Amino acid sequence: MDQVVFSSLKIGSLTIPHRIIRSATHEGMADEEGAPTDQLTRIYIKLAQGEVGAIITGYAGIQPNGRSPFLGMLMIDRDELIPAYRRLVDTVHRHQTALILQIAHCGRQTRSKITGLRTVAPSALKDKIYSEDRPIALSEQDIEQIIDNFVKAIGRAKEAGFDGVQLHAAHGYLLAQFLSPYTNRRKDQWGGSLSRRFRIIKEIYKRSRRQYGDYPVLIKINAYDNRPKGMRIQEALGIAGLLEQVGCCGIEVSCGFYEDGFFTARCPHVPIDAILAYHFIYKKFPPFFAFMLKGIADTVIPHAKPVYNYNVSFARRIKEIVRIPVIVVGGIRNLEDIHTILQEDSADAVSLCRPLIIDPGLVQKMKTGKQTQSSCIDCCYCLLGMEQQPLRCYYGRIPMGRN
Ligand SMILES: Cc1cc2nc3c(=O)[nH]c(=O)nc-3n(C[C@H](O)[C@H](O)[C@H](O)COP(=O)(O)O)c2cc1C
Ligand code: SF4
Repeated sequence: MDQVVFSSLKIGSLTIPHRIIRSATHEGMADEEGAPTDQLTRIYIKLAQGEVGAIITGYAGIQPNGRSPFLGMLMIDRDELIPAYRRLVDTVHRHQTALILQIAHCGRQTRSKITGLRTVAPSALKDKIYSEDRPIALSEQDIEQIIDNFVKAIGRAKEAGFDGVQLHAAHGYLLAQFLSPYTNRRKDQWGGSLSRRFRIIKEIYKRSRRQYGDYPVLIKINAYDNRPKGMRIQEALGIAGLLEQVGCCGIEVSCGFYEDGFFTARCPHVPIDAILAYHFIYKKFPPFFAFMLKGIADTVIPHAKPVYNYNVSFARRIKEIVRIPVIVVGGIRNLEDIHTILQEDSADAVSLCRPLIIDPGLVQKMKTGKQTQSSCIDCCYCLLGMEQQPLRCYYGRIPMGRN
């Protein structure tokens, strides 16, 4: 057994048995109310049996206009949902696995047609891929309400028995929209300088600590978002320092915005068949255009390189300046790389998403040496499939009867 990888780690008041975490993965398995279902519980049991160090849930919405454009999002916006979450947590805890609830507001990265409400954002800038309408710029009162709802969501998670929460401030969701100068053009106390763009997060931490003490509140941030005049590593370093000051107990390092296409979850080839089958715009294309697009997809649809370990050097820079644990995600696929990341002090832990979709038992196999490399082929079909179905691995193939 690899002693570097399989050694315990303290994240705030939480101790996890080793350094491989399941990164938040939208499962699309909540019921219409946003409550967890038995189907979701089964996924977590498999991950727990597969001995992941901790499970970070798929993102849970803190209020209705921040709901995901994808089906079956978890919601944590009402006290009535607490008993269902408590049942889920109790079940996972029976397998001695920590469960962390990721909480989010999608901001402009959703669609009014799905939420039934106007989309909102720090500034009225349209998302080029997902918005169908221009979002409304949030008023100061709206922002206060959102902070309050994040804090209430943390309280509900605590009451339900979750071992902690993770604020989703990456991938272009609302908190990332505040952090990035690309999406935050505000001139008031919520925009402009780095500390003002960070203010919404600072307020969430301040109020959470006031109400729930040292209850673990982690965060997922972008090290860089690749948007014009967007967030760069220098700013992420500043944000990491501020996070440590406000009592954050662990930073997961990721990258990218929706608009970027396949920047956050990278793939060697554009998953064109999946785009044409599931994407809400492209699936309406007539067959001829779809055929043409197949031919030129790799040149017209952005997809970033490198495909593996792509946030590690950024995580390392963040780790150099903070004392709280740093977790890195993105294209990490084998035990040898995980060992090197930890050995070289680039991060305190790694997190995996796609490798645990294709095989929730991978960590146990790595631990025993039975399998040290993920069999995920990085086709990204699981990402596109989220538009219409619960999470599953497609292994680069659209099911019969589609397309
Ligand atoms: C199907 C799918 C669903 C995802 N859902 C979430 C999510 O709910 N919250 C989140 O922070 N990231 C989400 N991500 C991004 C992953 O957590 C991760 O940052 C990204 O996939 C890169 O890691 P990987 O190479 O291990 O897949 C999702 C990715 C995929 C493929
Ligand atoms: S569909 Fe399966 S093989 Fe393809 S990226 Fe997702 S988990 Fe990996």
